[in-house]
Amino acid sequence: MSRVSTLRVLIPKFALNFARYESTTVQFTSKKVVTCCVNRKFSSTSPKLKKETVTVYFVDFQGNKQTAKAKVGDSLLDVVVENEIDIDGFGACEGTLACSTCHLIFKKKDFDKLPEKPTDEELDMLDLAYGLKETSRLGCQIIVTKDMDGLEVEIPGGVADAREPS
Ligand code: FES
Repeated sequence: MSRVSTLRVLIPKFALNFARYESTTVQFTSKKVVTCCVNRKFSSTSPKLKKETVTVYFVDFQGNKQTAKAKVGDSLLDVVVENEIDIDGFGACEGTLACSTCHLIFKKKDFDKLPEKPTDEELDMLDLAYGLKETSRLGCQIIVTKDMDGLEVEIPGGVADAREPS
């Protein structure tokens, strides 16, 4: 019959509640450890990594609608790229305000609710956009907010890249 002895170990809780050790029971046979159980409870204060998403619709001039999941905090250019929305030539300058190919047209009610007004640089670039309207904006300058769930934006019927000579 093997000789079993039990050693009960109490490990103090850590002050920052990173890991909480409760009582630990360790049983020994004559030479090796048979059982060792440690109850660990972890708490985490790490920030939420998953961004909230809303649904945005891109409608072309023929009325075809493409649906995209848009992360709050991303630009509409990011949304088009991440969702692989098929828009010819869209975002050619990758959001550096140099091309106007990310031109989108908003409904008046949505346009009026956009949190950021266009900068002078955006307005200058919009002047070069194809099919400019009163409610036009550049998608690379529009940041998605929670209020934009269900937003529908129109894709112009053509594209003009301001970097190319006319
Ligand atoms: S991507 Fe070029 S101006 Fe927006």
